Amino acid sequence: MTQYTEIHLIKRPDGKPVGPHLFEVVKKDIPTAGPGQVLIKQTHMSLDPAMLGWMSPDTESYIPPVELGAVMRSSGLGEVIESNHRRYKAGDIVTGMTGWAEYTLSDGRGFSKLQEGVDAETALAVFALPGLTATQGMKILEPKAGETMVVTGAAGSVGSIAGQMAKADGLRVIGVVGDAEKTDWIVNTLGFDGAINYKTDDLEARLKELTPNGVDVFFENTGGAIQQHIFNRMNTHGRIVVCGMIADYTSKTPAPGPNWIPLIKKRIRIQGFAMPDHFADAPELIAKLAPYVMQGKIKYRTHILHGLESAMTGLNLFFTGENKGKLIVKL
Ligand SMILES: NC(=O)c1ccc[n+]([C@@H]2O[C@H](COP(=O)([O-])OP(=O)(O)OC[C@H]3O[C@@H](n4cnc5c(N)ncnc54)[C@H](OP(=O)(O)O)[C@@H]3O)[C@@H](O)[C@H]2O)c1
Repeated sequence: MTQYTEIHLIKRPDGKPVGPHLFEVVKKDIPTAGPGQVLIKQTHMSLDPAMLGWMSPDTESYIPPVELGAVMRSSGLGEVIESNHRRYKAGDIVTGMTGWAEYTLSDGRGFSKLQEGVDAETALAVFALPGLTATQGMKILEPKAGETMVVTGAAGSVGSIAGQMAKADGLRVIGVVGDAEKTDWIVNTLGFDGAINYKTDDLEARLKELTPNGVDVFFENTGGAIQQHIFNRMNTHGRIVVCGMIADYTSKTPAPGPNWIPLIKKRIRIQGFAMPDHFADAPELIAKLAPYVMQGKIKYRTHILHGLESAMTGLNLFFTGENKGKLIVKL
């Protein structure tokens, strides 16, 4: 019988870069689908910054940690190889929680068929988590044409889509990134109005220069030193959506954050959100996002790794900023 590979989490992150020491690579016989089951061969697996949180022992987060000894959690896309499920047939392309495994046996829950005409990379980079997250974040921000938005992690999967939606809606959009190539990409390819390199620029001066009328909406994906400067430039009745804080995911002491008095003086609204609360709204979010995509207003790029085992070190690319686009493992 032919075997397949799956990767189990066996240790919690220890402050060092993520690597094979945290995982066990397991070989198993490819199963057959039982009653009501589908056997899915994964072809494209999504890597996401949140995985580091899922690997940690934090039980107070929005989703329980991955148990030690269990297959590492992830979403992905694959082909139905065998089906005893009324909704699926062999050959269907499906997306859902596949895990770090070449084959997955499922009762179909949490999976859905890929929409016709959408290729695998567009599905994972735009219509799956990144696009749904960007759309939900923009919905919370209630942006208006003519306003100024700052988005951090602006060349990333979520930030780049959020910024392009805002541009399409008539906002002035300033993106924050950590690399010169990314500043060029968001301005010259995506059409943002300006970029700040948080690693090399004078943050306060550059932000002031690029946001002469202050900041009305702030899409926060990263945290870090620039957060305080953006907060200081928020206008009265400004809105902030806290989507991610990647600068703090690996830090021993989280940043203290801004003082709250300006929230009162300027009546600023700040809201955090986590997508598992909104997965049931996916059809509504897709309906909002799809017109931007169909009108060619959303450009994206993918960063492809090859082979399941590349995921074990690939996660680090999020934290070094070396990922140039949506990180996908091709199996
Ligand atoms: N709330 C939710 O439900 C939800 C859902 C999806 C994603 N998220 C969050 O949204 C954020 C973006 O996710 P994504 O999938 O689109 O990832 P991404 O932006 O494609 O990749 C992560 C990027 O973060 C930047 N980064 C890394 N360390 C940083 C630091 N110390 N300071 C500032 N920037 C840093 C890097 O870009 P540079 O090269 O520009 O530094 C890196 O490329 C993450 O924080 C993620 O956890 C939240």
